[in-house]
Amino acid sequence: MARFYVTTPIYYVNDAPHIGHAYTTVTADALARWHRLLGDDVWFLTGTDEHGLKMQRAAEANGLTPIEQADRYSQRFREAWAQLDITNDDFIRTSEPRHYKAVQALMQAAYDNGWIELGTYEGLYCVHCEAYYAESELVEGNLCPIHRRPVEHMTEENYFFKLSAFGDRLLEWYDSSPTTVIPESKRNEAAGLVKGGLRDISISRTSISWGVPVPWDPRHVFYVWYDALINYATAVGYGEDPERFATWWPSVQHLVGKDILRFHCVYWPALLMAAGIDPPHGVAVHGFLLVGGEKMSKTSLNQIAPADLVETFGVDGFRYHFLRDQPFGPDGDFSFEGMVARYNADLANNLGNLLNRVATVVGKKCGGVGPAPDPDSRLAAVAKEGYDTAAAAWARVAPSEALEATWRLVRETNAALEAAEPWKAEPGPGVDKVLGDALEALRIMAVMATPALPNKCEEIWRRIGLPGVPSEQRLPDAARWGGYPGGLTVLTGPPIFPRIS
Ligand code: ME8
Ligand code: MG
Repeated sequence: MARFYVTTPIYYVNDAPHIGHAYTTVTADALARWHRLLGDDVWFLTGTDEHGLKMQRAAEANGLTPIEQADRYSQRFREAWAQLDITNDDFIRTSEPRHYKAVQALMQAAYDNGWIELGTYEGLYCVHCEAYYAESELVEGNLCPIHRRPVEHMTEENYFFKLSAFGDRLLEWYDSSPTTVIPESKRNEAAGLVKGGLRDISISRTSISWGVPVPWDPRHVFYVWYDALINYATAVGYGEDPERFATWWPSVQHLVGKDILRFHCVYWPALLMAAGIDPPHGVAVHGFLLVGGEKMSKTSLNQIAPADLVETFGVDGFRYHFLRDQPFGPDGDFSFEGMVARYNADLANNLGNLLNRVATVVGKKCGGVGPAPDPDSRLAAVAKEGYDTAAAAWARVAPSEALEATWRLVRETNAALEAAEPWKAEPGPGVDKVLGDALEALRIMAVMATPALPNKCEEIWRRIGLPGVPSEQRLPDAARWGGYPGGLTVLTGPPIFPRIS
């Protein structure tokens, strides 16, 4: 059995969940669900990043202790994910004792291997990135290139990680398999950072106390990013259960936004190597969702909460939009109008109408009992080609292409119905064939669209009379033409995707 360990970034607890966070988390969830359909052994991790200067200051500003702040916001992320039917197996918080243990064990290993040493750091620091910048990286008026906020001058005695020694090994790693960093544009970006020259980096702080103590020098706490990255190892037993760690590592697929490419594609694999651990199977990097052409941020007040959209589009409509309409990789502009258009076209019209039509005509022409499909139907080839294309797309973290391929079957099935017009025909074998084929297409769709539409696919399954739930089916068998047995009671009901005007 294949193993699939998928992670999202752990989100900062100074911010409420918005659709940018939801984008990564829904994508991870859809991948986890797809791999469960394949019968893989899946572990899906998300969580919150709770240490560091930014959190300490956010807590102060709210009149809270850092842990009170973290408790409150961590809970908001949990609630947002529950609302979106996210099926994470674990939710990690970096303030947990298990994480302290793992960070200390992993850093100690890198230290013992000679990759960490004491030095002095002087530089320009963006508190919002929790990162130092070179002067050349700053933008107009010495602002942080990500947040466009002033950076601060800092001088500290720090432990340094000898990142500069890992350039060649990182470049080799990028080339070692096509999965290491995807899509390719992002792999090139990572390689460019390495080729531009790597400097050793500061990995500890003495100026704050809200963090994981450095085990060999507890006057220091680890720099929040190095603490945070290790969450992926903590959650599968690093430092506590070596056997468990060995089952899941390195078969991990990280999903991250491009803002944290450098940390995941350069710093993280190098740190793993330093600690004697294999780098991850892959890091998939996506672009930003933009609202009105701008990145969402606390300062520009253009954040959209998932709940606001769920109210209009439902959970499945929300999930579908971000998976289908925001291709994984490039930046994408979010617009409410675009979301309505896609919902009405793909969900209300194509899929919703197909189900509605089929159930109504089966009711009228077949006494409400669904006929079996034609084993030699022309749609069999459409289904096969749809499955093959979708499976390949899911495998390279391209949900938008996977769903596009999946929806071809809906469109072709609607076209076959329109050509045959069974609603006008006399009951008989001709009508049975076209309706049996349409029911079979709906059965296959219900399985293949489950990662995007977990709730509505269950409803489709129920309406066409099938026992159980689509999420318990196994691919590729469940996508093979001919699985709808016929003789089942088909139910009509209200539209599963009411049109939005
Ligand atoms: O960076 N478009 O946390 P964070 C798309 N704690 N995705 C977006 C987005 C947008 N406009 N805005 C945010 C951190 N995201 C660290 C991570 S991991 C070891 C530590 C998503 O709360 C995207 O996945 O700032 C991005 O990488 C992440 O949220 C940043 O979340
Ligand atoms: Mg951020």
